Amino acid sequence: MPLVNAKEMMEKAREGHYAVGAFNINNLEWTKAILQTAEELHAPVMLGVSEGANKYMTGYLVVAEMVKAMIKTLNITVPVALHLDHGTYEGAKKALAAGYSSVMFDGSKYPIDENIEKTKEIVELAKQYNASVEAEVGAIGGEEDGVKGNGELADPNQCKVIADCGIDMLAAGIGNIHGVYPANWKGLNFDVLAAIKAKCGDMPLVLHGGTGIPEDMIKKAISLGVCKINVNTECQLAFAKATRLYIEEGKDHEKKGFDPRKLLAPGAEAIKETVKQKMEMFGCINKA
Ligand code: 13P
Repeated sequence: MPLVNAKEMMEKAREGHYAVGAFNINNLEWTKAILQTAEELHAPVMLGVSEGANKYMTGYLVVAEMVKAMIKTLNITVPVALHLDHGTYEGAKKALAAGYSSVMFDGSKYPIDENIEKTKEIVELAKQYNASVEAEVGAIGGEEDGVKGNGELADPNQCKVIADCGIDMLAAGIGNIHGVYPANWKGLNFDVLAAIKAKCGDMPLVLHGGTGIPEDMIKKAISLGVCKINVNTECQLAFAKATRLYIEEGKDHEKKGFDPRKLLAPGAEAIKETVKQKMEMFGCINKA
């Protein structure tokens, strides 16, 4: 199946009361592991790519072509959206031109009027590519790819204004944080989420910082309109742990160094397991 935008995925998730997992990719191994897991579990999936990861993989075009080719050669039949994560205004334009089927324009750092104006421009441009658009109101806490947010709670009125810009998904800060949650984390603010849902109606909501959010909070968030959940750190942690273990065990380095394919294999398996656990929690298995 060719890349799809996220519109239908979001509608089905909203109607079916589950969330689609958006997993960040950083290299070929991560991409392969996530696609294979989605296929095995018959789950729709979104591949999130930060601007930093795009740069690391040498550019939007390389990422788009790699993902499209991999879908073909691995015979992936489940819906896959290739999504720019926390895109800048210029980054979103570049991703669309390169073949991304979905973009997040993160205008949360701008004053609201500028966020509205730029979001509308990206929405118009995305229409030309039949791509979907995610916008953001109220920064997500923590740091992601050098982008810092203070964990603001989004203003439901501002959410409504941005939701009316023609976007397909809305990320709104509700106390969620990128990375591992601190021990004194207050949890998701469901009053704010409910108020956003009341204002924005059917607009699919996006929960960033999906690492380490307890299952009961995930389920409640889904019941209040969350249709997409982003996960990055949990895959990174699993990948790092498995790779470290492999190196410590010193499998083959005495003879000829590490075979890079063997070195990265345990990490890829760990990502598969993490993606599976998350998909179970999000309820998106067998929803393709
Ligand atoms: P985590 O790194 O906390 O899983 O968050 C990922 C994310 O929200 C990407 O936008």
